[in-house]
Amino acid sequence: MRNPPESADIQKNKIMNKKHITVPALLKKKEDGEKIVVLTAYDFPFAKLADEAGMDIILVGDTLGIVVQGQESTLPVTMDQMVYHTRMVARAAKQALVVADMPFMSYQSGMEDTLKNAGRLMKEGGAAAVKFEGGVGITDRVEMLSRYDMPVMAHIGLTPQSVHRMGGYKVQGRSAGQARQLIDDAKQLESAGAFSIVLEGMPNALAKTISETLRIPTIGIGAGPHCDGQVLVMHDLLGLFTRFHPKFVRRYADFTAIAKEAFSRYGSDVRTGKFPNEAEGYE
Ligand code: KIV
Repeated sequence: MRNPPESADIQKNKIMNKKHITVPALLKKKEDGEKIVVLTAYDFPFAKLADEAGMDIILVGDTLGIVVQGQESTLPVTMDQMVYHTRMVARAAKQALVVADMPFMSYQSGMEDTLKNAGRLMKEGGAAAVKFEGGVGITDRVEMLSRYDMPVMAHIGLTPQSVHRMGGYKVQGRSAGQARQLIDDAKQLESAGAFSIVLEGMPNALAKTISETLRIPTIGIGAGPHCDGQVLVMHDLLGLFTRFHPKFVRRYADFTAIAKEAFSRYGSDVRTGKFPNEAEGYE
């Protein structure tokens, strides 16, 4: 079978032999008003596709607990699993900056654990930066990692590791008090040295205020159109995760239908003796 033609963007990236996106390049994108595109990936083949399609950042999110492992939340994801998935993604990413999530209890448990686990994601996993959830309560960790030149992406608003405190995956920052707190969190995370910040599940107007207040780029998910960049979970974008469909997810493909159709054609070909044929064997 012939390979499908490459898109103009993929060809352009190859011709330009673009180097890896860097942390300073992302800050410059915000200064220049250029949107930052982020996608999650958890393994080599899909990370390679994301990289070749020109993603700025590939996030090895702890959402892998939900969309890959089939768990109810991200809480059971371990450090060893994050290192394993990050390594596969980093091997595939020739241009995108790879950011790896610090899973639940890899940084909440103390400063030493934070340093050791962030170090593992960069040294063993090959990530260029780490991400963790939280506001003013974790600025000491952000400061420490920044001091050791380990770039940190922060994450505030609907923080999935706090699902039990929030009482579900609920939009945050709707009351004036909560909104003030989130603005303060964002400012303090920037002062502590975070190079960017994910704003998840908050009103569009609040995300706009935070984006206009900060020098570092904001990356939105369920936070409206005014952030400096956007992130989506790959399995949501491809229509591979169908357990629920949050309002903010746009499905760009229906991989579930495509895969089911291919699997069922394969099954039928084997059952009817159409596959394999003589030419698909050896003499
Ligand atoms: O784990 C993840 O994939 C994330 C994104 C949804 C931002 O944190």
